[in-house]
Amino acid sequence: MSRVFSGIQPSGELHIGNYLGAVKNWVTLQSEFECIFCIVDLHAITQPYEPAELEARTLEMATSLLAAGIDPERSTLFVQSHVPEHAELAWVFNIVAPLGELERMTQFKEKAARQESVPAGLLNYPVLQAADILLYRAERVPVGEDQLQHLELAREIARRWNARFGRDFFPEPQAMLSPATRIMGLDGAAKMSKSLGNTIGVLESPEAIWEKLRPAMTDPARKTRRDPGNPDICNIYRLHQFFSAPAEVTMVAEQCRSAGWGCLDCKRVLADNMIAALAPVRERAAALAARPAYVREVLAAGAARARRIAGAVMGEVRQRMGFLPAGV
Ligand code: TRP
Repeated sequence: MSRVFSGIQPSGELHIGNYLGAVKNWVTLQSEFECIFCIVDLHAITQPYEPAELEARTLEMATSLLAAGIDPERSTLFVQSHVPEHAELAWVFNIVAPLGELERMTQFKEKAARQESVPAGLLNYPVLQAADILLYRAERVPVGEDQLQHLELAREIARRWNARFGRDFFPEPQAMLSPATRIMGLDGAAKMSKSLGNTIGVLESPEAIWEKLRPAMTDPARKTRRDPGNPDICNIYRLHQFFSAPAEVTMVAEQCRSAGWGCLDCKRVLADNMIAALAPVRERAAALAARPAYVREVLAAGAARARRIAGAVMGEVRQRMGFLPAGV
């Protein structure tokens, strides 16, 4: 069974963009692959963050992932900083990672442009990501389109390390593109993202979901209730495609084009379907909230399992690179 690895930042609660774009797919992959899922706190600290919030955000992300259907009986779920080998392998990879390519990474350039003083950690972010994947010699990596460049670099790093230190030791990991990429935020203007405040959390109450959907952006050209709308450019219609049954999606498009429904009518149907689809996630989260120690236990067991693999791979890496073994 080939091994899958993926990571998610500890941003706190999962939103429907993360859920549709990544985690829902992870849940499905569990029945076909050996899956390792990692909450990447060492990546999160490369951008300005609040130390007092990191712990809670990490736990909240773990809780959301379990609520969304990550099954610790079948998959390994752990926190990156609990397995020190990630940082160790990233350091080793820094000596084969091409500086020019790191500087050309789109995400690096975008993030660097937003910061006054650019930390080297931001430049080396994709090196750590390569280490995450290769530490488990994972062959497949479910990611969104925005991570394809990082994955290409991980393959390059694997090739270069292999060429220098050990033929075919690291497999070249392949991306598995998630079926739903780039879920737009409620503003309809940018990708859904916690930092932009345009999200709906998977654990939000039915009332909160409605309060957020009600003012959400639709077809900007539809000025009044009587104007026909164009579903193809409406973000609410796009969300219908993920949450509503096919027959309903067809009806929504017809009602929009004929101005049979107003945008609020359309949003009400979406809200109902979204609330129903997320209900099991909310229920599991409530059950988890009643057992606060359980999430930490899952993460501890996950880290122990991850460390067993990581330790063995790192041992081989040290040997192939010629380090003096510790001890006598
Ligand atoms: N950079 C990824 C993101 O922001 C998160 C990540 C870190 C990751 N390490 C990874 C994804 C390893 C896949 C594999 O989404």
